[in-house]
Amino acid sequence: MTGTVRADPRAPGGGGVELTAADLKILGPSPDFPITPKEHGTAFLFEHRHLWLRSRRQVAIARVRHEVIQAIRDFFYERNFVLVDTPILTGAIGEAAGHLFATEYFDLGTAYLAQTGQLYVEAAAAALGKVYCFGPTFRAEKSKTRRHLTEFWMVEPEVAWNDSDDNMKLQEEFVAYIVARALERRKTELAELERDTAPLERIRPPFPRVSYTDAVEKLKALGSDIAWGQDIGGDEETLLAKQYDRPVMVFNYPRVVKAFYMKENPADPRTVLNNDMLAPEGYGEIIGGSQREDDTFAHSGFGLGVERTVAWICGIPHVREAIAFPRTLYKLWP
Ligand code: 4AD
Ligand code: MG
Repeated sequence: MTGTVRADPRAPGGGGVELTAADLKILGPSPDFPITPKEHGTAFLFEHRHLWLRSRRQVAIARVRHEVIQAIRDFFYERNFVLVDTPILTGAIGEAAGHLFATEYFDLGTAYLAQTGQLYVEAAAAALGKVYCFGPTFRAEKSKTRRHLTEFWMVEPEVAWNDSDDNMKLQEEFVAYIVARALERRKTELAELERDTAPLERIRPPFPRVSYTDAVEKLKALGSDIAWGQDIGGDEETLLAKQYDRPVMVFNYPRVVKAFYMKENPADPRTVLNNDMLAPEGYGEIIGGSQREDDTFAHSGFGLGVERTVAWICGIPHVREAIAFPRTLYKLWP
């Protein structure tokens, strides 16, 4: 269509302009476009993901994701972190042996798709001080929850000399920065998504911090049957996070439920110097981080999952809509 563009505040979508058409040419026919204004099931829509992506809601989500990723890069650039790209094919286990995608690697045995870039940025932090990696990571987990993908994007900063407290301070500043940027530059998209932005306006440091031990006591008081030593599961995360109006950082978990690289807590060797950050409104863990076990220099870092963060900011129920072509237990196409 060609014509004259003119300002009109009534234009749908908040774009503020309308086109008065003067000419129309058909470049290609689109008979039987499968997505109609009626309600479609999610399975149907995901089978037509390449077309579904054109809908206003999906466009809005894509733009918020783009903004979140730009904010992530700007935050670290402004603070003089150096981006270090880490391998996707690796010979080592990054997190948990049970959740690896494996493939044959010539004469060298088995290669795995990276679960994390952390062990590489730990080495790079020794050279460069403040570093981060940012890329796709893979978990062969048979989780069917609305928070799990088999391929997701994770940003992982690692900082020489930071202890666990410094690590939590960096996390709250980082998350507040990302949310503020989305509110500032993606108002139109958040309105399209009918996102109530009031809870997001409250996301300012400091974030509440609660030890794992206190969190277990709080959960018991709220009716959970969790016992000290057990991991905090998805439902309990939601229950706990509901008590706060900002993301809550739960620190010093039992060693047995966490990864091998976390630094033992000298004040209580049953626990480690780590924390998870739980987003409000039922979105659960968006960050996992820790001080690292070291026999050289103290260092700490964390990983933030992009899709969980985007899902939370957009207020959408499932992480699979937070990435253009999601990979889940049931989804390898399109
Ligand atoms: O807690 P995780 O497993 O931590 C790590 O991978 C560390 N190596 C990070 C670090 O310290 N450098 O994962 C970090 C975050 C989670 O909090 C979550 O946001 C996201 O990555 N995540 C997932 N997102 C979607 N689908 C999955 N299956 C995810 N697993 C983790
Ligand atoms: Mg975790």
